Amino acid sequence: MKILFIGDVTGSPGRDMVRTYLPKLKEKYHPNMTIINGENAAAGKGINKKIYKQFLEWGANVITMGNHTWDKKEIFEFIDEANNLVRPANFPEGTPGKGIVFINLNGTEVAVINVQGRTFLPAIDDPFRKMDELVETARKRTNIIFVDVHAETTSEKQAMGWYLDGKVSAVAGTHTHTQTADERILPKGTAYITDAGMTGPYDAILGVEKEAVMKKFLTSLPVRFEIDETGRTQMNGVLVTVDDHTGSARKIERILINDDHPFMD
Ligand SMILES: [Fe+2]
Ligand SMILES: [Fe+2]
Repeated sequence: MKILFIGDVTGSPGRDMVRTYLPKLKEKYHPNMTIINGENAAAGKGINKKIYKQFLEWGANVITMGNHTWDKKEIFEFIDEANNLVRPANFPEGTPGKGIVFINLNGTEVAVINVQGRTFLPAIDDPFRKMDELVETARKRTNIIFVDVHAETTSEKQAMGWYLDGKVSAVAGTHTHTQTADERILPKGTAYITDAGMTGPYDAILGVEKEAVMKKFLTSLPVRFEIDETGRTQMNGVLVTVDDHTGSARKIERILINDDHPFMD
């Protein structure tokens, strides 16, 4: 079983990259399923129904989210019916949407979980104890469990990776928008990367127009952060190969497409 995971798709440049390169990645790697982090898909902030549907049409099986989940008001109108959308599972009890989904691939089930860190992010429920509960739920149905850990600090993501080692197939980090080169298989069989990276503007700062971000650092004045829609683009993610029966990871490879790392057929 091969699972392709695409890091934070940001604005229309990110969506264009998915439309262009997802078919090419599928042709090259033949993943059995594709997961996209879509928390920044609508102009950098949240997701709307149209984009959610587009991602599914373009070949994604599940869309994961993060701290930007509620940025587009429209989300409240469709999240409860969106069977392939996962938002952080440790949002407080009673929050709309769900933190775990099961996808059936010709009889083989895959659980996809989204969980959010609490360091330099809103104080929500404990992601570690939430994971105990979700792993138990998921294991009743399948050993193949993919976790998108949406967090700011490397240490919190690494802690989650080690905490879940041997309990899930993969722990892939998102939110920091810069791919890390620490992809590995932990000793008990969990694939891990601190950050899968982002998909969208390349000549920008985490997807945002670099002039605005520099102005913020140089002056501390209020600035408007807009997605850079003019420059070059990139696509980041990981491909995880998992044993269908045990759910143990066999391999994790980084996907990095930009002008400095061109896509090869
Ligand atoms: Fe993000
Ligand atoms: Fe985020």
